[in-house]
Amino acid sequence: MEIFITKDYEDLSAKAFEVMGRVVISNPYAVLGLATGTTPLGLYSKMIEDYKAHGTSYAHIRAANLDEYKGLPKDHPQSYAYFMRENLFRHLDIEEGNTNIENGTAQDEQAECARYNKLLAEMPRDIQLLGLGSNGHIAFNEPYTPFGSETHVVDLTENTIKDNARLFSDISEVPKKAFTMGIKQIMQAKQILILASGKNKAEAVYNMAHGKVTEEVPASVLQLHPNCILIADKEAASKL
Ligand code: GLP
Repeated sequence: MEIFITKDYEDLSAKAFEVMGRVVISNPYAVLGLATGTTPLGLYSKMIEDYKAHGTSYAHIRAANLDEYKGLPKDHPQSYAYFMRENLFRHLDIEEGNTNIENGTAQDEQAECARYNKLLAEMPRDIQLLGLGSNGHIAFNEPYTPFGSETHVVDLTENTIKDNARLFSDISEVPKKAFTMGIKQIMQAKQILILASGKNKAEAVYNMAHGKVTEEVPASVLQLHPNCILIADKEAASKL
């Protein structure tokens, strides 16, 4: 794992754009694995700025997102589909049909997971962007998820529900389950870019980068990826 420590969040986002920009500028047909959460927002702003300033086109870019809350329709303001549309896609020339995410309202969970597995198999990711949960989760792969997992439905941990409650008006509104891409599929990306910002990520960053590779800390699997870049700001890197 190659580690970059930046002085602040602004620098983290600029460095992340260097990595992501290299992919989209060098390959107009690139396949991007994208993530939600607060951490990638600065990177998404930089992608939008670059598109507006330099016309970097996403017309042939395809994207697959990591995860979606179970039960939230794509127009629900807290759904990850909505998040992606509002914070990235609608500002670029990406085709809506080229953006993919699990369907949170699918009735048949197994069929939905199978659909997403098939789709992921058909579109290998050139780069997979990740945030990091404060308990070491990646996407919604919570501690003890098998490293060989594919798309599945998870019961979110209390810790994750608490962390994500800040984006809902009340903690009781946070869905208890979610669809998530599996760890095996995350690891299949040619390159992984994981971002971490803030003091509450410091322990997870340490365990991910220097701890034992264990299913107890899902992100520790990234130590085994041949091309993984971690960009952490000073606070998130404070225990390294
Ligand atoms: C959620 C998402 C993850 C994300 C994590 C951290 O649980 N499912 O993909 O990485 O939150 O989010 P944040 O970047 O807001 O700290």
